[in-house]
Amino acid sequence: MKLSNVSGLLMVVLSIVTGGVTGGVAGGVAGGVAGAQQKPWQNKSLTAEKRAELVLGQMTLDEKITFVHGEGMAHRGNLPPEMQAAQLLGNGGVGLAVGPVRLGIPVIDMSDAAYGIRSSAENGRYSTALPSNVGSAASWDPAAACAYGALIGKELRAQGFGMTLAGGTNLTREPRNGRTFEYMGEDPLLAGTLVGNRIKCEGEQHLISDIKHYAMNDQESGRTSVDAHIGERALRESDLLAFQIGVKVGDPKAVMCSYNGLNGDYACENKYLLTDVLEKEWGFKGFVVSDWGGTHSTEKASAAGLDMEQPGDGFYGKKLKDAVQAGRVPMAELDEHVRRILRSEFASGLVDDPPHKSLVDPQTGFDVARRIEEQSIVLLKNRKELLPLEAAKLKSVAVIGGRADYGTISGGGSAQVDAPGDPSPGKWGHKVWFPNSPLEAMKAKAPEATFTFSAGDDIAAAVAAAKSAEVAVVFAWQWESEGMDLPNLSLPEGQDKLIAAVVAANPRTVVVLETGTAVTMPWLEQTGALVEAWYAGSKGGDAIANVLFGDVNPSGKLPMTFPRSETDLPRTTVAQPPKGVPPGKLSFVVDYTEGAKVGYKWYEAEKKAVLFPFGYGLSYTQFQYSGLKVSADGTEVRFTLTNSGQRKGAEVAEVYAMLPDAAGEPWKRLVGWQKVSLAAGESREVRVATEGLAMSVWDEAAKKFVKPAGVYKVMVGGSSAESPLEGTFQR
Ligand code: BGC
Repeated sequence: MKLSNVSGLLMVVLSIVTGGVTGGVAGGVAGGVAGAQQKPWQNKSLTAEKRAELVLGQMTLDEKITFVHGEGMAHRGNLPPEMQAAQLLGNGGVGLAVGPVRLGIPVIDMSDAAYGIRSSAENGRYSTALPSNVGSAASWDPAAACAYGALIGKELRAQGFGMTLAGGTNLTREPRNGRTFEYMGEDPLLAGTLVGNRIKCEGEQHLISDIKHYAMNDQESGRTSVDAHIGERALRESDLLAFQIGVKVGDPKAVMCSYNGLNGDYACENKYLLTDVLEKEWGFKGFVVSDWGGTHSTEKASAAGLDMEQPGDGFYGKKLKDAVQAGRVPMAELDEHVRRILRSEFASGLVDDPPHKSLVDPQTGFDVARRIEEQSIVLLKNRKELLPLEAAKLKSVAVIGGRADYGTISGGGSAQVDAPGDPSPGKWGHKVWFPNSPLEAMKAKAPEATFTFSAGDDIAAAVAAAKSAEVAVVFAWQWESEGMDLPNLSLPEGQDKLIAAVVAANPRTVVVLETGTAVTMPWLEQTGALVEAWYAGSKGGDAIANVLFGDVNPSGKLPMTFPRSETDLPRTTVAQPPKGVPPGKLSFVVDYTEGAKVGYKWYEAEKKAVLFPFGYGLSYTQFQYSGLKVSADGTEVRFTLTNSGQRKGAEVAEVYAMLPDAAGEPWKRLVGWQKVSLAAGESREVRVATEGLAMSVWDEAAKKFVKPAGVYKVMVGGSSAESPLEGTFQR
């Protein structure tokens, strides 16, 4: 912000304050008949485009420039003094964009909110931690994704924020990526559909929704200097397809471009990504914001379609103003950036209904977090029906490891939600447990049973406890964070050794994993039962106990393959940046030669056996599939699903297709699914509408998706590796 604007701004703010208007700057100036007459853009019956155009026509060059860049990290102390004087204090988020406040346009106050709101402790506030994004993807449930987004949207607004930085959609191309827990797994249809539903319902709370990190930010190592290389067809059918579906379903009002390069150009100055694909082809009407510090130029970025630099003004402050005045950046181009940001403010509802600070009800957050976690836990193994534990008959349980006496672990980085009781909240790089103890929750289920707890650091003590108990339950974790990749997929800190010793001591051992990605399991063979609980959120302990004791029948399915070993991945190690090269330049290439063969497609095409396939997950009941009918054009698949077991349960019924030979793809693709809840013995006809994009190939010459001619094979079942029903259709 330039000082020349500030006096006007101060006057507006002062007049609002002296006028006794409550509800914030924008709330004060927005609305009212008189206001609407003076400010025609306040007329709610006009389209967002028209209202944006009317405001744009009133803005000065300085106001436009101010609007397209950040103001520092927006913590109170960092804000320029003139803004503090004008009481435009950030809410303690990570970004701020100051629009023309004198015209009644609210500032855009941004917070990270991947699985809850970041930095709440620093601001003396509270936020629910939902299960990690990848965990929620294991629910395969668009309604759960919607509940997830709606809760975060409400809590953001209660803290005064008008924009969320969330919606992680990068595919799990590299399971060692330290942000895998922030994303939605390895399949573009699953990830795109779920993130889209999350975004849609978050945006419905009247804030600017966001999808990130666009695109191919698939590893953290050297994330600001890596140039991702991939062919166009492969890109369009994998990572970009996830974003395409996410944008279509969720209608985000902002897209965050990523740190890395793509095929030679940084993502935030990549015309192909930002203009050709996002804006022209997908018709995206919102604005593009750079990842924090991800802007690398003025003219090139502006021409490519970057609308806003965050968090500072290194390229979109004075440099942009000079470039506009010198004609190197046309005024029309700057106007287009501003128009897009304004349109998002109107279209999201931020102008008409700006956020008001209030207190959230933590209990509501607990309930939503627990229910989503209950739907996201995946039962991976259940030998001789060891689970569910029968509370009435249970005599003794040895609970071991994972700080299960305290709570469940969470993912770090800018996604980190502060946990109650954490002595150093907000500290980058430290592991945070949420205080909802699985041990205590289990004890409450079986008050007659004897429980012992061993921390797990003394293997001999853990083995002795496991031997003398009827059942052992071992909790194991693997921690991830932004800014790092995992060295491998092994559980850290000797946990494999601990589990191996415990399962050898007691065959009735249940292993509960709290991880943000796949792990390898050298002890699997001997383990009685295995549960993947992901990062389980604010009420993870209760949700885990509900599943272990059968109050909840597990229904989650893996959103990513669990490989046998890192040697089965497309790359045996994660490429590292060259030493001594300063950041800010693309200094190394990762060539994604596996192309669109991400996850299960890779293992299938390469004929590699896996530990657990994509889409896999057990239940305490059984489901039978019968009576497949595929419509002549393949757009609808019908079949009968029967719960043939003794308990009520929900099944994710998955539909895959193998494209005709002409596609040249010897692997299947997920093309649709439905999560169906059935009472014991109940049968239902299930109809799945298949996704056309997931059954198309990108024609590089024609620059569009086409449906190859020939015979399509359709496979229906409970995972990517089982298809009890098979049929075909022809195009
Ligand atoms: C992350 C983004 C985040 C931003 C603001 C960046 O380091 O990559 O996901 O939204 O910081 O905190």
